[in-house]
Amino acid sequence: MKADEVREKYIEFFKTRPRNHKEISPSPLVLEGDSTTLFTSAGMQQLVPYLSGKKHPKGKRLVNSQPLLRTQDIEKVGDNRHTTFFEMLGNWSLGDYFKEEQLAWFWEFLTKELGLPKEKLWVSIFKGDKQVPRDEESFEIWKKLGIPEKRIIEYGVEENWWSTTGTPSEMTQGDIGGPDSEVFYEFTQVKHDAKFGKVCHPTCECGRFLEIGNSVFIQYVKKEDGSLEELPQKNVDFGGGLERLTAAANDNPDVFQIDIFSSIIKEIEKVSFKKYKENNSRSAMRVIADHLKATTFIIVNGVVPSNKQQGYVLRRLMRRAAVKMFELDKDLTPIPAFQGVAEEVLRVYDGTYFERSRDRKVVRSVIEDEINRFADSLDRGLKELEKARKEQLNTLFAFNLYQTHGFPFEVSKELIEKKGGKVKKEEFDRILQGHRKLSRKASVGLFKGGLADHSGEVIKLHTATHLLHWALREVLGKSVHQEGSNITKERLRFDFSHQQKLTESEIKKVEKLINEKIKEDLPVHKSVEEKEKALKSGALANFAETYPEKVSVYTIGKDLKKNWVSKEVCGGPHVKTTSEIGRVRIKKQEKIGAGLLRIYAGVDSTN
Ligand code: SER
Repeated sequence: MKADEVREKYIEFFKTRPRNHKEISPSPLVLEGDSTTLFTSAGMQQLVPYLSGKKHPKGKRLVNSQPLLRTQDIEKVGDNRHTTFFEMLGNWSLGDYFKEEQLAWFWEFLTKELGLPKEKLWVSIFKGDKQVPRDEESFEIWKKLGIPEKRIIEYGVEENWWSTTGTPSEMTQGDIGGPDSEVFYEFTQVKHDAKFGKVCHPTCECGRFLEIGNSVFIQYVKKEDGSLEELPQKNVDFGGGLERLTAAANDNPDVFQIDIFSSIIKEIEKVSFKKYKENNSRSAMRVIADHLKATTFIIVNGVVPSNKQQGYVLRRLMRRAAVKMFELDKDLTPIPAFQGVAEEVLRVYDGTYFERSRDRKVVRSVIEDEINRFADSLDRGLKELEKARKEQLNTLFAFNLYQTHGFPFEVSKELIEKKGGKVKKEEFDRILQGHRKLSRKASVGLFKGGLADHSGEVIKLHTATHLLHWALREVLGKSVHQEGSNITKERLRFDFSHQQKLTESEIKKVEKLINEKIKEDLPVHKSVEEKEKALKSGALANFAETYPEKVSVYTIGKDLKKNWVSKEVCGGPHVKTTSEIGRVRIKKQEKIGAGLLRIYAGVDSTN
């Protein structure tokens, strides 16, 4: 069975009577206006207000298929079932039907629509803890549906509780969640591997079992005092991985052999002259297939590689894929190889999530730019790694690979540890910070934090830069991120991620927004905040992962809590109120790389 067929069957099943769901559009993979997460990582993310009681315009029963990215499993990619990118089939009851209908309908979908043999299906329920009782109801429903008790397994909060932030004790105030019930498919042809434990069971990692769906009963909200309170309505939030459901429908434990992966793998075989069936090539091919699929989706969603936020995730995925390509074939020419694989990804999803003829250009250009930057360094870095003695394989080595050759930390860690070395993140961060301080000192005071000096003119342009950053995001969208800034007395220079040059009217709009805020004479306020809190409140940051725990934040706006205009983690200095700046004019723009623009602007001294 093909993935398209599984997706279609599922959506149709939930749309038709007596289920009567309405299909909703998936959220974009890169979320706008959500500062808590970089990518959409659960189908329910767009529904949080409605799960909490707000009325959804399409009603109380919703269904869709949602492309997701979960990077927490990135190291596991390479086995037969983990991926960072996947599609999740989801159905929701917003205070309408509950456990009885949900479990029976999903069971019917699995056994009748997909034709899965009942005896290969296992289920799990929440076993209860101090705050929430055992899920007796689901236990009884599963039994009634004909599942023998020995195939109904109970787990605690680690396995059978779901919220976007984790277990009840990890949830923060206002988070919603609840107990869940999962279904697993047993691949009886896979022998249990004792390396994963004596006894095999549904959440064992040996590969005999595959989780194919999770019905979450969202009915709690976390209170300030740490307790869980019942929501005004009881909800169902179901999610099942399309790729995994398709693998189960084909009784094939390898998700990379379903149709939406196999043609991508074939392309990798073609460019590398290796075969997927060869044991020593398989894992690398899976990583490349997954990462380049994720890469293509992220690029089409408007992100370019950079050293922060979504751009950093993209860079990390691309560079990790490049390392794996190199492992497969040292002589391969990486740009056409990457582009060939990405072209296949575009073909597979053409008409579903992509318009191949429209999206091809940007994908090819971002790949060319990033791989060009990395290819030579990759070769040199790997040679150094090959030559390194055992005692050299440590955090400092990882830092040098990062510093000299642009290897993302996680990629170096993986490579070094594979050769028996040890790399620690805290130590890496310490070295990096020390290094940053040194290089700032070494620049003879020039361009401290991108500023030529702390003269009145430079300070005005510095605040103008924050307003420019804000206005660009207002006009062009939230995929705009600062990539660099350099300010002299005469002008500001601002580099940011965006695909094409601004039109005349976009430039006018940006200037107008900035000058309006200058006229409003808004105060510029400095505060020192916990890094995490600052980022959560929406403050923009350039190298968030390398900042200390406490950061200084500059907020422009009358109301610092709610209606602020711009908020950035920044070392300052800035003007006291915006009217000090004068009138800002954009003087020039340049395209300086794939998806990278540069703007020059200056101020007229009188308003
Ligand atoms: N929210 C749950 C998950 O993402 C079920 O959809 O796994």
